[in-house]
Parts: sequence; C-alpha cells; structure tokens
Amino acid sequence: MKQPKFQTLGEFIIENQKEFVYSTGELSRLINAIRLAAKVVNHKVNQAGLVDIVGQGGELNHSGESQQKLDVFANDVFIKALTNREIICGLASEEEDDFVSINGAENNNENKYVVLIDPLDGSSNIDVNVSVGTIFSVYRRKTPTGSPVTIDDFLQKGTEQVAAGYIVYGTSTMLVYSTGHGVNGFTLNPSLGTFYLSHPNMRFPESGAIYSINEGNYNYFSEGIKKYIKYCQENSGDRPYTARYIGSLVSDFHRNLIKGGIYLYPKSSKNTFGKLRLLYECNPIAFLTEQAGGIATDGKNRILELKPEELHQRAPFVCGSPKMVEKVIEFEKEFSYKNSATVEASS
Ligand code: AHG
Ligand code: MN
Ligand code: MN
Repeated sequence: MKQPKFQTLGEFIIENQKEFVYSTGELSRLINAIRLAAKVVNHKVNQAGLVDIVGQGGELNHSGESQQKLDVFANDVFIKALTNREIICGLASEEEDDFVSINGAENNNENKYVVLIDPLDGSSNIDVNVSVGTIFSVYRRKTPTGSPVTIDDFLQKGTEQVAAGYIVYGTSTMLVYSTGHGVNGFTLNPSLGTFYLSHPNMRFPESGAIYSINEGNYNYFSEGIKKYIKYCQENSGDRPYTARYIGSLVSDFHRNLIKGGIYLYPKSSKNTFGKLRLLYECNPIAFLTEQAGGIATDGKNRILELKPEELHQRAPFVCGSPKMVEKVIEFEKEFSYKNSATVEASS
C-alpha cells in the first residue's frame, strides 16, 4: 500500500493494529486516549505564562517533592482520559500515593491493561518556559480480568511492558511511542490538532557527542562515574564531547535519541538510589531506548530486568547510544565494583 507522505497518528494506529495477533483494539483505544490527553495538557502548557497555572500547588507528592499546579492538572487530565472511557483496569501515577483500580460501572471491567504514568516530567522547568513532558508505560494485568487490580499488576519487570512512550511539550509538541515494534515519533500540527508521523523508526546513533548529567552532584558520585565524566571532559579529536543538560528527562532523552548521546542520573552518596522513579521514568524510557537500539542500565544491571519492590521506588539510570553506555558500564566495573558487590558512591 502506498504510504501517504505524512500519515496521521490515527491512520498509523489503525494500520498497525494488525501487529497484535490477539488484539481486540484495546491498546489502540488506549493510545487514542493518551493522544487526546496530550492535546489537552499541551494546550495548558502553552498558556503557562498567561493563566494562573504556574507555581506550586501547595501539596507534596509521595516522593516529598512539591507539586506544581501543572503537575496536578496533567495528572487529572490523564487519569480522566483513561478512566472515563473504561479503557484500562488500573492506573498508577507518580503524583498519587497508591494505585487506582478502575472497576467499571457494574464492577465488570474486563479490560486487560494497566498504565503507569509520570504526568508532568521536568515540572520545575514550567515557570521558566523550558520544555516538559509526560511519560507513560503499559502492562498487561497479571491478575484475572473482571476482578479489582492488585499491587502485583503494577510491580512487573520492565521487560513485561507492552507499550511505552512520552510526549514532549517543546518548541513543537511530539508524541513518541513504541509497542515493541520500533519507535515512532509524531509531531502535533497545533492549528489542526493532528499528530503526524514525522520521525518513523527512530534509532539511536551508535555513538554521539552529547553527555547529559547534573555535574553539580559530581563530588557525591561513585569513582566510576567521576572517571567517566573526566573521560568526557577530555574532549579530544576522536571524542568531541559536549555537555547538555535540560533537567527534563524527556527533553534530554529526546535530544540524545535524535543526535546521539548519553543520559545519566547515577546513584550518589546523597541519593543512594539515584533520583528517577523505576516504574514511571526508568522503565518506559529504557523500553524506548532498547527499541531504538540503545542500552539502559543502572550501571551494572539491565534496567528492564530489575524487579520492582514498591510503586515509587527509585533507580540509578544511564541510557543512550550503545557505545557510550558500554563505556560507563566498563568504568563502573573497573572503578566502582572492583572489591564490592554494590557501587560505592563517595562521601
Ligand atoms: P519530575 O518533574 O517528574 O519530578 O522529574 C524530574 C526529573 C527528571 O525529569 C530530570 O531529568 C531530573 O529530575 C532532574 O533532576 P536534577 O534537578 O536533580 O538534576
Ligand atoms: Mn519525571
Ligand atoms: Mn513528574
């Protein structure tokens, strides 16, 4: 079949539904609901300087971080878009203390999927007009359909994801996602309200020139990470590295995926498990990384194989172009794991 030059996301979803052998259209409806919520949040993000939605909302989330008004707004929009349509049976959000069971009008929800979401990533950047994002992750439930979901439906390894993606509310708004058949990126035409396939089959370059890490934490990193930063700073002819760090995982990842690069939020003596949340941030981004030919690790183990113990758990996170991530694993092995089973962060 002849492909239209710019296929819409709606057309793409219908055309690719056949990739799922037992598909009943549920996953397609789910992506459609995310597409809708993304447009609503995008509209609000674009008004951020004009209406009273910048600044803190006055509450703390489960991780003790102060919630921005837009965090709360995005959380509500995504939860409503996914629950009102009874597309899924459960949802967990970075902004909610516990998971939500969606039981249906007569307690008869037969849906198979649960969604885990970081509704607004990089929210400290909203007040200063810097790109933010949304990250989502989809799993098939473990418990039988028709019953309320349990914690076991959410504490699944990242390898079990059936889909994951993000929306970046940037200079243009994009939705990038994968259902396990590569990664595709869609750009929103704001005047039509339509997403178009602008970045088909996105792949990490084997290597790149960008390293992204909060170097302000340098003194607290493990020896391996310190040595790796120094290696990047040497910045020689065959290694023309440059630092880029936005402070929104979605935006940093998106840039590195296109240009080639590495993102690191390692453990430190200040944050023993790093900062990023395994279920809402590391796993979906790791799924996309691997689908795009990259590597995602905690410095030693494959992220997607970590067994989650609790909803809001954190994990050290390194992802990006395969050659660059391999180097970090090498450095960690040589300088941090030499005499111990765990990475020692310096104090
Ligand atoms: P969130 O806004 O969802 O809490 O996530 C913020 C995360 C991530 O997006 C970003 O890469 C990282 O925090 C930045 O942390 P530092 O300010 O410690 O560098
Ligand atoms: Mn986040
Ligand atoms: Mn967030």
